[in-house]
Amino acid sequence: MPVSTTETEALETAERTLRLGGLVGLPTETVYGLAANAADEAAVRRIFAAKGRPATHPLIVHLGDAAQLDAWASEVPEVARTLALAFWPGPLTLVVKRSRLALDVVTAGQDTVALRVPAHPLARALLQRLAPLGVAAPSANRHGSVSPTTAQHVRDDLGRDVDFVLDGGACSVGVESTIVDCSSGTPRLLRPGGLGREALERVLGQPVPLVESAEVRVSGTMESHYAPRAGLVLTTAEALADEVAQRQAWGATVAVLAPGTPALPPNTKHVRWGDDAESAARTLFAELRALDAQGIDVVVAVPPPEGGLGLAVRDRLRRAAAPRPKPPGAS
Ligand code: TXA
Ligand code: MG
Repeated sequence: MPVSTTETEALETAERTLRLGGLVGLPTETVYGLAANAADEAAVRRIFAAKGRPATHPLIVHLGDAAQLDAWASEVPEVARTLALAFWPGPLTLVVKRSRLALDVVTAGQDTVALRVPAHPLARALLQRLAPLGVAAPSANRHGSVSPTTAQHVRDDLGRDVDFVLDGGACSVGVESTIVDCSSGTPRLLRPGGLGREALERVLGQPVPLVESAEVRVSGTMESHYAPRAGLVLTTAEALADEVAQRQAWGATVAVLAPGTPALPPNTKHVRWGDDAESAARTLFAELRALDAQGIDVVVAVPPPEGGLGLAVRDRLRRAAAPRPKPPGAS
């Protein structure tokens, strides 16, 4: 892959930082990650400290090449092999039985490991320099808040807790990877994400049920997550104007995320969003961050239909709208 001199320098800095035990903001096609060398226990612990993330939530290991799957898994079921072949590099994470390469600090002591080969050219270039090492990386936001889709979002969230941010521009997918648990040999969808469920099912020729599992600890599946500071209300195109008027009557400043050009009360900030599921996914987190920066009290959103990336967008919106834990803020 051709990279410019400045990109080469940035890649060298990122590589050196990771080899020395530092934390790097990693651009991927889904969201930015907060990366550490997965073989360096102390460095991985720094990720949990920087994010304020409970140690019981396992991390995804990012690899430069699908051929590394066999080194990180103790067993590769047929479904995992098929999905890796079809969709790596790409916005798909596979959960498989772990090999000895996967440290307890990365897997939270579980006997499985989550693996992904991202498609972003800078991420791939960096991961290929580091191979056979893998890179543990959760999304580079404070635990529970909105995921970052630009290098600036990472700096805004983590400041000096990240040693270097590799700037790969705005993320092209915009929501996290789809997570499929293959560890039992039967595929289960743990988190809808940047790869639509229809594509998985087409390639596997079987249904991939969405499981809301209590036994697997997936932090992105906790009810309140991805939450902006503003309140978030979900509605339909039909009920939109009334929802807005009601909030405004209570004195709130209201912004609307909705497709097209809906009729709205005056003084409503409308962000045209969600004309199709792919563009809704790409811009969701950035729009929520921008509205927070403007001090909006309530965001009223009209989710896209379920097909393709719509399932992931609806999942993120639902969690962002869920009742917040107390005390609110960093966790
Ligand atoms: O797109 C993405 O997946 C981004 C980019 C940076 O790659 N990463 C990301 O990481 O979203 P994070 O940590 O925010 O979400 C990863 C999810 C977590 O909810 C975690 O619990 C789950 O993956 N996970 C990790 N290992 C697992 C395992 N062994 N079994 C089940 N879930 C696992
Ligand atoms: Mg996350």
